[in-house]
Amino acid sequence: MTAYPIRALVTGTLAVSVVLCAGATASAAPAVGTAIPALQQQTRTNLTQAMRGEAFANASYTLFAAQAQREGRPAVADLFRKTPAVELDEHFTQEAALSGLVSSNEANLTDAITGEGYESTTMYPTFAQQAKAAGDTAAADLFTEIAKDEAAHQAAYQAALTKLRTGKGAIPTPPAVNPVTVPAGQPKVTSAQTKANLDTAMHGEALAHAKYTLYAQHAQQSGNPALARLFTAVSDVELQEHYSGEAALAGTVGTTSQNLATAITGETYESQTMYPTFAQQAKAAGDTAAATLFQHNATDEAGHAQAFQTTRKGLS
Ligand SMILES: [Fe+2]
Ligand SMILES: [Fe+2]
Ligand SMILES: [Fe+2]
Ligand SMILES: [Fe+2]
Repeated sequence: MTAYPIRALVTGTLAVSVVLCAGATASAAPAVGTAIPALQQQTRTNLTQAMRGEAFANASYTLFAAQAQREGRPAVADLFRKTPAVELDEHFTQEAALSGLVSSNEANLTDAITGEGYESTTMYPTFAQQAKAAGDTAAADLFTEIAKDEAAHQAAYQAALTKLRTGKGAIPTPPAVNPVTVPAGQPKVTSAQTKANLDTAMHGEALAHAKYTLYAQHAQQSGNPALARLFTAVSDVELQEHYSGEAALAGTVGTTSQNLATAITGETYESQTMYPTFAQQAKAAGDTAAATLFQHNATDEAGHAQAFQTTRKGLS
């Protein structure tokens, strides 16, 4: 997404730790620390798009799980909770490893500051202005409110970066999270521009949530639990407040039957079109590890589509 540019590999080789999920052939999985050749541009672009898709699926399924729970369908809720774990913890995480998304804590903070700055000073103010001009007052108010949050995120990350670089100050106290409930409903905006902006914003929030989740893991693993707590809390705000608030206006959540249909459409596209194309292109470019990962994910998504289809047929 535009607000958070994926750090690109430019030259040389990258030592990565990639663990392919169950079913991948052992010979195709790079060992920990294996030097992987720099990726071709097309592969990098495809990895970025795939990560956006995975982050978005992860975010929307959490809302679909809550809707299934409200409808008294705990088994469907469980499926919608388990599937995003695969999208985030396996697919997104492995694609991020190949992309070199996660770096040092300082570099991760710098990347986050850039993204938050763009959102708070450019993207959300523009979206708010456009929504207001279109008469979508609720969206204008939400975009304005979120812009303030992003400015606070930027300031918190900047303070954390200063602490890391100079030892001065402290890692800020993580923000409180006030989850937004997203009931099934129609879109609450009218203009096509506002709808498009909501879609862009939601992809950005979903990606920010996924990225900060990995940044938090890295901070924890590298011995900085206070920074991990900050990344985790902001990550939760991005998903449970920003993404969810926007989803409520966008009418993202329908009945469970509708949500399953939405999920089937997305999984089918990923399994039959997106990932096979990406795998083919990566193979042709000589990016073997990426080709293997894309192919493996295509198989996983077919399994997800099948599970959702079976579940939908079984709805009483
Ligand atoms: Fe996935
Ligand atoms: Fe943010
Ligand atoms: Fe946000
Ligand atoms: Fe999936």
